[in-house]
Amino acid sequence: STVLPCDVFSTSEALSRHVAKIVAAIIRERQAQKATAVLGLPTGSTPMGVYRELVRMHQDEGLDLSNVVTFNLDEYYGLKPDQLQSYHRTMHEVFFQHVNIPSENIHIPDGTIPLDQVDAYCDDYENKIREAGGIDLMLLGIGSNGHIGFNEPFSIRNSRMRLCTLDPITRRSAASDFFQEDNVPHQAITMGIGTILEARKILLLALGQGKSSIICETLQGPITNRVPATILQEHRDTSVFIDTAAASKLT
Ligand code: F6R
Repeated sequence: STVLPCDVFSTSEALSRHVAKIVAAIIRERQAQKATAVLGLPTGSTPMGVYRELVRMHQDEGLDLSNVVTFNLDEYYGLKPDQLQSYHRTMHEVFFQHVNIPSENIHIPDGTIPLDQVDAYCDDYENKIREAGGIDLMLLGIGSNGHIGFNEPFSIRNSRMRLCTLDPITRRSAASDFFQEDNVPHQAITMGIGTILEARKILLLALGQGKSSIICETLQGPITNRVPATILQEHRDTSVFIDTAAASKLT
């Protein structure tokens, strides 16, 4: 018996197509209302298929993204936007370069903000989310330690956008992207759990055997700030989409 229900897909392609359809439906629905669609977006490997599918829908089916406003969840602190591992660069290469979201509608935390300006920068980013009308749809991946965004274990429920310290597990998982663990930044700027929970609709995605234990805890375990993703059980419109491998430990 799961607390948070989930849909299980036999392949990551099938999952990506399904999620992209949900995103496209919200974009079209908001278009019909002559309104913007405000999306919260993650990076990491999990959502890449969704971005590729949205690009395909734009190119082959004429999906119009001119009313989309985006807010990325997080960015490594200390990385320049054009650096290979920056979320800024990944998002442009995989998604933004290939679709018609106006560049002024795209927001990604800046990892180069000087330390003494980070707090003001984070407040300003949250204000921009509010001014945009709040997030309609938030996509999330999940770390094998249960983080969402870079809200690591023991982040508090009401946390806001901030500079945070990366968990050793997170830095180890990122080691291959940075060629070795020593090169992985120690900090990141992330939306807080409180920021994430304000999104009107949340889709949590997970792929692969490596996520099977944490998916089990997230969907079936008690709500605890040791596993930040469990706090999603309190959100009134969260859907979970996972592949067979990530579902393999559910009872
Ligand atoms: C990245 C983010 C992280 C990732 C998580 C899973 O923007 O917010 O929480 O979603 O670390 O990463 P992957 O998808 O690479 O397993």
